Amino acid sequence: MAEEKFIVDGLAGAQKLSGTIRISGSKNAGLPVIAASLMCAGPVHYSNVPAIEDMSRMFELLSDLGVSVTQANGEATIDATTLATNVLTREVSERFRASIILTGPLLARCGEVQFPHPGGCVIGNRPIDIFLNGFEALGATVTEVDGMYTVSAQQLVGCDYFMPISSVTATESLVLAALGADGITRIHNASFEPEVVALCEFVIQYGAHIEGVGTPELIIHGHDGLLQSETMECVITPDRLEAGSYLILGALAGSEVTVTNCRPDHLGALLELFRQIGITTEVGESSVTVFGYTQKPQQSYVIKTHEFPGFPTDLQAPAGVLMTQVPGETLIFETIFEGRLHYLHDLERMGARVDHWDSHRATVHGGTPLKGRTLKSPDIRAGLAFIIAAIIADGTSEIHNVYLIDRGYERVEEKLANIGVAISRVSA
Ligand code: EPZ
Repeated sequence: MAEEKFIVDGLAGAQKLSGTIRISGSKNAGLPVIAASLMCAGPVHYSNVPAIEDMSRMFELLSDLGVSVTQANGEATIDATTLATNVLTREVSERFRASIILTGPLLARCGEVQFPHPGGCVIGNRPIDIFLNGFEALGATVTEVDGMYTVSAQQLVGCDYFMPISSVTATESLVLAALGADGITRIHNASFEPEVVALCEFVIQYGAHIEGVGTPELIIHGHDGLLQSETMECVITPDRLEAGSYLILGALAGSEVTVTNCRPDHLGALLELFRQIGITTEVGESSVTVFGYTQKPQQSYVIKTHEFPGFPTDLQAPAGVLMTQVPGETLIFETIFEGRLHYLHDLERMGARVDHWDSHRATVHGGTPLKGRTLKSPDIRAGLAFIIAAIIADGTSEIHNVYLIDRGYERVEEKLANIGVAISRVSA
């Protein structure tokens, strides 16, 4: 695919954006529920499917496995009846982290799965020990040759597994594996992000018996055979990270920006930060409107990322841009990943003032006008943060590596142009 870049003309601090952005289905909820199609005896019909690169990679991976995939216009039908292999190809798997979610259902369904170490955003080391230890706890054996893992089990057996870190995709993969186990599996310290809840609610709807959904104590009862029902459908949850990213843009550069088709109950931590800063919002049933940002007396703030319902690590970079403008200073404490503050160096090149303490902590000083620059997206969320920075900057910016942004944000330049952003996609 030819390299592309975004050209963005900055507003130089003027608050000119206004209008409505319809939020798409969530990447991080869509990927696990689509992986769960491997636990279903027949076709599953999905709607509100986001047109993003990671979803295309997941469809490619499933097709490589022999699964039937038909999709168009935000709908997809996945039928794993024709599943033909349990080997995840290196080429596609290494392009996105969520490929690893497939390991759990493949192990449960086939008794063995082979896969490479997954790829994905370079935001830290991102090991997979919690997956492998979980599979061993379920009675599987794990071997690794030249970076390809083989996990196999005659029969998975329910177990008690204490997750040392409440890993989101490890919880998702192990829940699906545990459905194929004999007996009951208890996952302690499980993730209960909205995306994990959405996955559990989907499989429960079609026969799975899971207790403790939405809590760190998940109890998964082994399920005889595959999930089945006359028709199986799933509406993918709206993307809280897309909604949050665009609300931050609206707070910085909008007079009145509304995001629709979203879940305000998934945005509590961001709305609390807006309240602290004095940013006015209007919260509806499935929409949030944010009004322009008005200067408040100098204050100090803390943005400490934390598992849900705490401040999402995936909104940390967009929030970092916001705090370069809010008078005062903000301690950013990224507790989840050790490599997710690098984008601050790029913001400094634009004029931000940052004190770097360690790989998890930095202080952003507010009230610093930004200048347009040429930037390179290092990951999905920092890429979107660079677009936000470019929009509020003085002058024109170029943002490269837009594939990384397209991995997690659907039709980003179209949605932004609709509220008044001067952005165009050109070949790099
Ligand atoms: C999911 O990644 C999301 N991706 C990430 O979103 C998100 O940032 C992250 O959860 C945290 O909320 C998807 O859902 C597809 P983790 P995941 O396992 O599951 C360590 C985006 O931009 N860990 O919860 O990979 C890990 O290194 C992406 O949409 C281990 O040590 O994250 C990290 O420090 C970026 N061993 C911590 O756990 C393991 O086996 C939390 O990671 C697994 C993880």
